[in-house]
Amino acid sequence: MSNIGSYDKRYGNFDWKISADELEYGKDGMYNIAYYCSDRIVEKGFGGRMAMIWESFKGEIRRFTYDDIRVYSNTFAAFLKDTGIERGDRVCIFMDRIPELYISFLGILKLGAITQPLFSAFGEEALFTRLEDAGTKAILTTRKHAGKVRRIKDRLPALKHVIVVDGDALSLKPGEIAFNMEKAVRFDSFDIDRAGPEVPSVLHYTSGTTGQPKGAMHVHSSLLAQYLTAKWVLDITPDDIYWCTADPGWVTGTSYGIIGPWSCGVTQAVLDSGFSTQKWYQFIEKHRVTVWYSAPTAIRLLMKDGNAVVEQHDLSCLRHLISVGEPLNAEAVVWSEQTFGKPFHDSYWQTETGAIVITNYPGMKIKPGSMGKAFPGIIATVVDQRTFQPITTPGTVGLIALKPGWPSMFRAYWGNEEMYRSKFRNGWYICGDRSSIDAEGYFWFVGRDDDVINTAGHLVGPFEIESALLEHEAVAESAAVGKPDPVNMEVVKAFVALKPGYEPDADMELSIMNFIRKKLSPLAMPQEIEFVDSLPKTRSGKIMRRLLRAKEWGQEIGDVSTLEND
Ligand code: PRX
Repeated sequence: MSNIGSYDKRYGNFDWKISADELEYGKDGMYNIAYYCSDRIVEKGFGGRMAMIWESFKGEIRRFTYDDIRVYSNTFAAFLKDTGIERGDRVCIFMDRIPELYISFLGILKLGAITQPLFSAFGEEALFTRLEDAGTKAILTTRKHAGKVRRIKDRLPALKHVIVVDGDALSLKPGEIAFNMEKAVRFDSFDIDRAGPEVPSVLHYTSGTTGQPKGAMHVHSSLLAQYLTAKWVLDITPDDIYWCTADPGWVTGTSYGIIGPWSCGVTQAVLDSGFSTQKWYQFIEKHRVTVWYSAPTAIRLLMKDGNAVVEQHDLSCLRHLISVGEPLNAEAVVWSEQTFGKPFHDSYWQTETGAIVITNYPGMKIKPGSMGKAFPGIIATVVDQRTFQPITTPGTVGLIALKPGWPSMFRAYWGNEEMYRSKFRNGWYICGDRSSIDAEGYFWFVGRDDDVINTAGHLVGPFEIESALLEHEAVAESAAVGKPDPVNMEVVKAFVALKPGYEPDADMELSIMNFIRKKLSPLAMPQEIEFVDSLPKTRSGKIMRRLLRAKEWGQEIGDVSTLEND
């Protein structure tokens, strides 16, 4: 029997109080996520249970009990407080998936400060944009990534502290601080901030259609949704070994790589390594992973490597499989059923929703290719793109819309009230994705309603890429679009017009690709560059990105005058 039991019963009879009661949320005025992820588990008598089994890319293994993460997160909190960090300050975590990332995340929250996790593969420009926008006061990083911080620090007046968690006197530059979690004086207790359920907790940057990435701000009471979805959708129990393959630089890696699982008291396995079929299967087998949360691109890569490699491993430990981030194709569901004896369950949500909102539940009939149904407590529909009225005819495509008010809904885009308000229409939060709903209430994803590129489950904003491209000495103008890719769903393609005197040859292509990889990230790097003399524009001079995109997808765009106002 799964944790959720009967979906229909749960949906019809739901109250978020279920989550609050189970967590005893708000008891003694305590609302802080970090308390529920560490101290509370210890107080319940499970301090000796493993919270994290961590494996490095070299195969080194380290284990941390719930009591360890309680004490180490206290130690981080006490140190940051001593450094001068106060409630509401933004503290960035910029490191690979090392234990310090997961533990400092809780430490920052214990202090009442806001965690701003950023993907460590970000280049200096991507990092700069996000730190500048958030007015970040401190950054926790490692020697490996400190160079990028050093190169932009002078342009960031708000950034007061650079803390290197594996640093030593020799490796530091003037003004930087070394802090070693395990060598520091341990704090067995810490006065955890209790400012309330609406206190900001996590700030995740996400890409939109226009402009630079926006910071989706969450608050502590998001826990109510993250806890219950982890329990009911991921179906984790304290006896499980759970593996979330996402990096905490993205929302899946925090909502379901830290908050959801630890508030449920489960043992997490963490692999600080990139994708490799062999390594992943070995990891599952070695640590006896039972619940696995991953992404369609990874599943497609596993499929590509075939079943011979599966047969070399004992994967019988796997009990429940879930996927997120991009459309989960029906073939992948069927393949996983044949290969692991279990289907992957799709789950749909966004940085802004903070937690899973539509999904296939354990025990529910899966229709391969469908994302499933709304989570209990979530009122989800599709609305007409002009009137924002719910569409009642099954099978008609509209925009996915959610009734505001679920606990993990983002509360702001950092410093951008107008953009935040623009996401709400006619009493609905508009997700920006197109879907239909069938007669049984199953959602069928169609595509995004904007130009954002989803590559391997990561959103990349075309504007951010185009702005960076313009900084290349040879680029006069450019447009970045997503082009279809059999594994990553989409990859970035750039159309570039060069300044006079520059040659559109293979060297130039390489130079531009590397420039973007270094400045932004490997994800944002165009996989293809098409040199053009000029780009199609509207009468007002705006580049018609959609026209270029439609060509890549082999779509008819029809009358281009409809793009005039895009
Ligand atoms: O377009 C949808 C796609 O990813 C977007 C959200 O991306 P992000 O905010 O980075 O969060 C990713 C992880 C929650 C959505 O607007 N997306 C997410 N899940 C699915 C999906 N597209 C299709 N099927 C999904 N299951």
